[in-house]
Amino acid sequence: MSAAQYLSEGREFVDASICKYLPEEATYPESIHKSMLYSVLAGGKRLRPVLVIASAEAVGGNRQDILPFAVAAEYIHTYTLIHDDLPALDNDDLRRGKPTNHKVFGEAIAVLAGDALLTQAFYLMTHSGLMGAIPPERLLQAAHDMTDAIGTSGMIGGQVVDIESEGKPIDAETLEYIHVHKTGCLIKACIRAGAILSQANTDQLEALSNYGEQIGLAFQIVDDILDITADESLLGKDIGSDVDKGKATYPALYGLDKSKRKAEKLVEEGITCLEIFDNRAEPLREIGRFFLQRTF
Ligand code: IPE
Ligand code: IPE
Ligand code: MG
Ligand code: MG
Ligand code: MG
Repeated sequence: MSAAQYLSEGREFVDASICKYLPEEATYPESIHKSMLYSVLAGGKRLRPVLVIASAEAVGGNRQDILPFAVAAEYIHTYTLIHDDLPALDNDDLRRGKPTNHKVFGEAIAVLAGDALLTQAFYLMTHSGLMGAIPPERLLQAAHDMTDAIGTSGMIGGQVVDIESEGKPIDAETLEYIHVHKTGCLIKACIRAGAILSQANTDQLEALSNYGEQIGLAFQIVDDILDITADESLLGKDIGSDVDKGKATYPALYGLDKSKRKAEKLVEEGITCLEIFDNRAEPLREIGRFFLQRTF
């Protein structure tokens, strides 16, 4: 199966349950629930939940068993996007082809919608009743792992340094810190989660972590490239937003060509980490390659 096929089937599988774990729009207070659903349903490639699934399947796990955890990963990702777009951070107007959350619901509700999605994600990740086939200690381990990935030693740390580096000259080490943390950590944690929940052994978990580290960084390098080269209507976000804000990006430090080569090398190295796996890891290999070819 091609990456495109696996990703589109995976997206459909996740999307069929994406609202199931959120209060309905009409639930009081309506504004927050409308705002949460607005961003969750705005579209999105659903790469992170599909990575949870692909990693689980690579070690012999079952996607249905871990579905709530995969959905939680998308809630976390959507929260990071809502907050990332706020005027105090990137101040962007377009996301997933639609006006950003704060443009529609106002900043206060957008902040709270992000908080609420994050909270709901932890409700789901720790809900052993919803994931009865998963040993509770594995759920605990995966949820705990996720906290590390998105806290100040992970995603938040990366976002802080990203914001504090705006308009300043940047060195290679700081740039790598930003990208590994703001984006790579969550991607890696999704891959680890699928494996942990599906009883991966130590060698498998280590190999998948290494793969996740490489492709996570590659993903953000490509995001930087697309901010310059993509078609805005396809990308669904404002082009040139990074240059306007003097963001620390790979193209800004290395140029487009060298950035592209770095991303390619990372994906290649990531795929090499999967050598111990059989063809059940083929979707992961294909997703790595897709990261380089994507146009949105
Ligand atoms: C965008 O992520 C934000 C980054 C971490 C670079 P995606 O490109 O996965 O966005 P969606 O979910 O498809 O909208
Ligand atoms: C976003 O990085 C990382 C997180 C949301 C944590 P960017 O700021 O480059 O993402 P886009 O380009 O706005 O999607
Ligand atoms: Mg940002
Ligand atoms: Mg941004
Ligand atoms: Mg970007």
